[in-house]
Amino acid sequence: MVQEVQAQGVLKQHSIWQNEAPPEPCAVIIFGATGDLTQRKLLPTLAHLAHDHPLPEGFCIVAFARRPLDDEKWRAMALESINTYMPADNKLDEEAQQQFARRLFYCRSDFNNPDGYRELAQLLDKLEREHGTKGNRIFYLATPPETDSIVIENIGKAGLAQQQERNGYKSWARVIVEKPFGHDLATAQKLNADLGRVFQENQIYRIDHYMGKETVQNILAFRFANRIFEPLWNQSYIDHVQILVAESIGIGTRAEYYESEGAIRDMVQNHIMQVLCLTCMEPPVTFDADAIRDEKVKVLHAIPLLTTEEVAQCTVRGQYVAGTVEGKPAIGYREEKGVNPNSVTETYVALKLFVENWRWADVPFYIRTGKCLPARSTEVTIQFKRVPHQLYKPPETKGLVPNRLTLCIQPDDGISLKFGAKIPGAAQHLASVDMNFSYKTAFGIQSPEAYERLIADGMIGDSTLFIRRDEIEASWRIIDSITTAWQKAPSGIHFYKAGTWGPEQANTLIEQDGRAWNNPE
Ligand code: BG6
Repeated sequence: MVQEVQAQGVLKQHSIWQNEAPPEPCAVIIFGATGDLTQRKLLPTLAHLAHDHPLPEGFCIVAFARRPLDDEKWRAMALESINTYMPADNKLDEEAQQQFARRLFYCRSDFNNPDGYRELAQLLDKLEREHGTKGNRIFYLATPPETDSIVIENIGKAGLAQQQERNGYKSWARVIVEKPFGHDLATAQKLNADLGRVFQENQIYRIDHYMGKETVQNILAFRFANRIFEPLWNQSYIDHVQILVAESIGIGTRAEYYESEGAIRDMVQNHIMQVLCLTCMEPPVTFDADAIRDEKVKVLHAIPLLTTEEVAQCTVRGQYVAGTVEGKPAIGYREEKGVNPNSVTETYVALKLFVENWRWADVPFYIRTGKCLPARSTEVTIQFKRVPHQLYKPPETKGLVPNRLTLCIQPDDGISLKFGAKIPGAAQHLASVDMNFSYKTAFGIQSPEAYERLIADGMIGDSTLFIRRDEIEASWRIIDSITTAWQKAPSGIHFYKAGTWGPEQANTLIEQDGRAWNNPE
């Protein structure tokens, strides 16, 4: 089912495959196949792909997992997941479910048992012969980070990462690695080195699902497909930038993971840094994967590492206590199941960073993210400077704020521009008004799910939206400079009531610069 897009009277086909042709056949081997991510995200996404977009016959999914299952039991488990987690308006009928199930296979093994990988190799050969996968493989590591290295090593030892040429056809092997990618720079470097011993960099796809969001990709389209904004996109016109990733949910059932990561590793190191890079980068020479990623890395290199004093001045850590979120009572973080009652893990971060280059010198970037905030909202706010000379008298401009451009990533995806207008009447009174663009209204279609976009790109071998080795390490370097200083002062956590916009200290962080947070309306 290919969706049709109508914008400004132009009808276009919307296909997940970039050149409208289905990808080559392949087997996707999921490590961590019985885990939460696979059940909630990967299986429904793969089922959706297989159903709504043309996929070659020779497309198979292999689970590599410890649990004592076989093909039949794994198929039943997968069908239950897709029935539970696929959106209500896009469920698969009985026949489509059976078709999907026939593509699923199970390989039972411990991650550290080399025999299991040999069995996997035999199964992959069989799928090539009997189902026409052409020997192409995508290894999907949806595994806990501590097991990544052993899985990678064993894939290598079993010869499964090799791209072989047979009968004039060169089969390919790729690996998709989920976040968290390391816990700090050292562990990320180790994981990169482990990957590098087995795979070439162009076989490695480090996933950050924010890059799969249409609205995140649209930052590039907005900046580089329009003439009028780019000349203003610099320190001559922009006063400051805010990036907000607010969530109204708490940590759910992920206490163990969250206790060790906190908001800075969970959200800032990856998703927020990616959004920041797209907002700040120079125009790439082309839209090739490396041209784009070269520019993103330059942004990360232009962010100075913070000293201990700067961390004290420019960062605020928060943790939620009991409150009310969206009308419902919420318990405090320390009361969540599995959380240490004296935990100092941050569930909220506010930061001020600079990108020290010609374009952005002296423009502060204020970043905020947190759990149990009043609403779910991801936005980039470009706050332009005031007019150089105000002709209107202060009483006439009471309702006026300087121009502001807001890129709404979610949930109300769109773009809005605030500008001044004269209030009709004899008096010269001005007010700020909004010019709004909404994806839903303009295009009338549902954007593809972030995972769908990324898995599809992995299948066609386009790594543009995936994170390169130097990029991930550059980002960790910045985060390490902050977490190292925090470790020296573990008591520097500030509490905020669930359902509020974070601790008071975060307001001070921006207000002391004569600015204010732009909270979603
Ligand atoms: C994940 C984080 O990467 O992103 C979660 O681990 C967070 O803690 C989630 O809730 C947010 O994703 P989205 O797409 O809902 O903004």
